[in-house]
Amino acid sequence: MEPLRAVKGMNDVLPDECAQWQRVEAAFRRASALYGFREVRTPIVEPTRLFVRAVGETTDIVEKEMYSFRHHDEDLTLRPEGTAGAARAYVEHGVHNAEPVTRWYYAGPMFRAEKPQRGRYRQFYQLGAEIYGDPGPGCDAEMIAMLVAFFEAIGVPDMEVLVNSIGSAEARPKFRDALLAFFEPKRAQLSEESQRRLATNPLRILDSKDPRDQAACEGAPQIADVMSDADKAHFDGLRRLLDALGVAHRVDPKLVRGLDYYTRTIFEIKGAKAKLGAGDTLCGGGRYDGMIADLGGPSVPALGFSAGLDRLVIAAEPAGAESVVDAFVAPLGEAALGSALELARELRSRGVATSADTRGASLKSLLRRANTLGARLVLILGEGEMSRGVVTLKDLAGHAQEEVPREGAAAIVADRLAASGAVRRGEPA
Ligand code: HAM
Repeated sequence: MEPLRAVKGMNDVLPDECAQWQRVEAAFRRASALYGFREVRTPIVEPTRLFVRAVGETTDIVEKEMYSFRHHDEDLTLRPEGTAGAARAYVEHGVHNAEPVTRWYYAGPMFRAEKPQRGRYRQFYQLGAEIYGDPGPGCDAEMIAMLVAFFEAIGVPDMEVLVNSIGSAEARPKFRDALLAFFEPKRAQLSEESQRRLATNPLRILDSKDPRDQAACEGAPQIADVMSDADKAHFDGLRRLLDALGVAHRVDPKLVRGLDYYTRTIFEIKGAKAKLGAGDTLCGGGRYDGMIADLGGPSVPALGFSAGLDRLVIAAEPAGAESVVDAFVAPLGEAALGSALELARELRSRGVATSADTRGASLKSLLRRANTLGARLVLILGEGEMSRGVVTLKDLAGHAQEEVPREGAAAIVADRLAASGAVRRGEPA
C-alpha cells in the first residue's frame, strides 16, 4: 500500500509545536476576556447558501475555494471563515432580543482550497471576534487596539496596522461605476482574471497582485471620492480614536479585502515579514452593517476580525522549551510498581503533573527519562525504600538527594514545587 499522508495543505501539529499554539490561543482568550468578549462555538459545516449569500457569489472563496458537498438532499460546505456562521447563530437565536450589544469570540479550523504555501493552508485556524449592535466608530477603534495588545503580548515583530473605509452600501454602486469607467478603456492592459472581474466585481482589481493590474491601477478612483459625509465622519472618528489610544496606523486607500460583506471600516494587520514573506497578513476584518438584516435578522450593525492562528504561531516569539511534567516516579523492580502508581496518583491529586515509569528500567535510564520530560523532582522507590517505608527524593536541578517518609511524600513534593515557583499545571482535584 502507498504510504498514507495527510491531505495536501492540511497539517499535523505535533506536541512539540502545540506548546506554542496553546500559548497564542491562551493570550487570545485572555485578551478577549479583558475586553468583555464571550466564546461562541458554531458548526464546522453550514448550508452552502449561507456563504454564497454572506461572503458573496463573486469572491474567490465562493467561486473556487469552498469544500462543498451534497449530503442526501442538502448542499453543505466546510466553513471557509467564521463570520457568516456566527451571524447565522446570532439571528437564529434572536440574540438581539436579549442584549443590545453582543461581543463574541471564536477559535477553530476553517477550510479553503487555496494553493498551499508557507502560512497558507487548506485547513487553517482562525481566532476571531465579532461585535453586534454597536455602530461605532468607538468599537472599531477598541477592536483594533485589542488586536494590537494581543499581538504585542505574544511578541509579533514589525507590526503594521492598515485601515481604510469602503463606505456604506449606498456608496458601493457609485464606486463600481467609477471603476468601470476608469478600467474599461484599459481593458486590454489587465490580466485575464481582472478582465473577468470587470463584469463581476471590479473592486477586486484594486487588490490584484498581478503586475499588469497594479500598473493599470495607477490613478484609479478612490472610494473617498464617492463616500457620503456620514461615511467620512465615521472614518475620521476611527482615526482620531486610534490616535487617542496611541495605536499607530496607516491609511491604505488600496485596501479592499476579499469578502463582499464589508461596509465602512476595513483593516488588516501585517507583521513578522522576515518569517512569513508575502503571507504576512496576520489578521483582517471590518464592519459589515448589512449582513444581519441580509440573513433575515433585524437591522443590527456589526464588526469583526479574524486572525490566522497558523501565521501567528510562526510570527510570535518562540516559546521556551516545554517541561512536560514536574515530578517523575521511578520504581526499581516490579514489587514497587503498585506503590509507585499510587504515589503518582497522590501527586496528581495535589496538582503536580507527574509521570511514573511502568516499563521497568535501570535507575540511570529512568533519571535520563525524567530529565527529558523536564521533571524537577524524581521519587525513587527501590527495594530498600519499600522495606523502610520511605522514598528517595532527588532534585534534578540542585542534584540533592534525601529520604522522606512514603506517607507524606506527595505533600512534601507539592509544597516544595510551590515554594520554588516551579510550574504546577493542574489544580488540586
Ligand atoms: P480573511 O481576511 O479571509 O477574513 O482571513 C483572516 C485571516 O485568516 C487572514 O488575515 C489570514 O491570517 C488567515 N487566513 C486566511 N486564509 C488562510 C489560509 N488559507 N491559510 C492560513 N491562514 C489564512 C475573514 O476570514 C473574515 N471572516 C474576517 C472578519 C471577521 N471580518 C469580519 N469579521
